[in-house]
Amino acid sequence: TGEKIEPKIEFPFKGLAAKTEDQLLLDEGLEYQILAKWQDEISPKDKFGFNNDYTAYIPLQQGPDLQEGLLWVNHEYLDPLFVHGFARKADPKTKTKEAIDQELYEVGGSILHIQKKADGPWTIKQDSDYNRRLNGFTEIPFDWPEAIAGKKVAMGTFGNCAGGVTPWGSILTCEENYQFYYGESDYSQDAEQPKRIASAYGWEHKYPDNLPEHYGWVVEVNIKSGKARKLVALGRCAHECAQVHEASDGRLVVYTGDDKNDEHIYKFISSQPGSLTEGTLYAANTEKGEWLSLNYEEQPILQEHFKDQTEVLIRLREAAKLLGATPLNRPEDIEFDPQTGNVLITLTNNIPKGDYMGQILKIEEDSEDKTGLTFKAEAFLTGGADFGFACPDNMAFDPRGNLWFTSDISGSKIGKAPYTPYGNNSLFVYHQAEDKVIRVASAPKDAELTGPYFTPDGRHLFLSVQHPGETSPSLEELTSHWPEGGDSVPRSAVVVISGPSLDKLMGYNS
Ligand code: FEO
Ligand code: CA
Ligand code: CA
Ligand code: CA
Repeated sequence: TGEKIEPKIEFPFKGLAAKTEDQLLLDEGLEYQILAKWQDEISPKDKFGFNNDYTAYIPLQQGPDLQEGLLWVNHEYLDPLFVHGFARKADPKTKTKEAIDQELYEVGGSILHIQKKADGPWTIKQDSDYNRRLNGFTEIPFDWPEAIAGKKVAMGTFGNCAGGVTPWGSILTCEENYQFYYGESDYSQDAEQPKRIASAYGWEHKYPDNLPEHYGWVVEVNIKSGKARKLVALGRCAHECAQVHEASDGRLVVYTGDDKNDEHIYKFISSQPGSLTEGTLYAANTEKGEWLSLNYEEQPILQEHFKDQTEVLIRLREAAKLLGATPLNRPEDIEFDPQTGNVLITLTNNIPKGDYMGQILKIEEDSEDKTGLTFKAEAFLTGGADFGFACPDNMAFDPRGNLWFTSDISGSKIGKAPYTPYGNNSLFVYHQAEDKVIRVASAPKDAELTGPYFTPDGRHLFLSVQHPGETSPSLEELTSHWPEGGDSVPRSAVVVISGPSLDKLMGYNS
């Protein structure tokens, strides 16, 4: 008939039903390999840490015969039961220094030099000097003119949940639930001498010089040198992630969410091209569609309550509330929709407020380059029966612009009402043309799938399988044996997913 038919990529996934098996199950046409699991040796002196989360792949070379790059992996937290056999209900004050030092070692991040030869698996280059760990001992300076709670250099990074990549290929790793390790400060009675609230892990008992103010920052890591700095200008909260946009004039716009019930989303706009230290931080009022400046000089209400900009950044949550930032339902990951430029934010849930299922929120900035201060916000996808997912968390867009996201129903609630129909935590892909969400992977017991990150060709997806078996009451009663099976202890691991379905989606014949 002479009519030209545009080649159209067919959506290749059949989709999985909700599952409850203690396995990583994938949709037909997908397969996985384990790249690194807890305690694997990554260099002569370092082992892969606990509870791997965010991943980011920085390619070094990308050819048909060899793919080679550096993989950043967050190690968010650790389970003392598995690390040193600490009983579930034991008092953290009774931990020995040796046990706490073991814990400090397990968190932070790993840098892995990885490669894949044609038809071979992904492997870690064992002899590479790039392979290293950051952990609870790593000395990390604050990039700020003033000391932070008496220190210019912090000891360690931990709680590293999600993150982002800068335009120059460094990693932003985000210190999320920092309060579990050295506790929290309560400034309500006396801001000069805050009351210290005890932590769950009890590290403050062995390292009393490390204060809550030293943590809760976005940390930039040079993936080649391993050198890091804490970015004070981005504020202190339970940062889930940091998503960077480079405006046409070179200024940076960084979005970050504070993953706690009724906390806020923020964006930093740099005043200088490429700066993560000079600029203004804003908090979102999503009802009015306004970004509210946290600049001390511009805000009399901040001057009434705080002594300077440093204090505003340390006590960010209080400052944002004074300005009228909107309380949100646990803002987690943030990604930019490559088709529209819209900012997508997962709001995972807010159980005390009756939001069990969460949603993906869309922010449409009024400005072209995201540097403006007004926007529109509306739901993009809602959790629950309509789309068949609950508690969205990490997101990634593949190179063809499809949205992939994971769910995070907390381990103790999986399989219980109202989450029974959703089975184990999963990885989903949104089929925009049909407006439906397809489950493509299901996690082992108690686990969460986190940190999805695609290679530039989209044919390989790095994914963390995090905290399998975390509800195990003791080492004798394990709820998961993933990945080694039998009677083995469960281990978090980074896997690489590939296969004919993914190739097809990316337009390759395999
Ligand atoms: Fe560590 Fe917000 O998940
Ligand atoms: Ca997360
Ligand atoms: Ca989460
Ligand atoms: Ca997690």
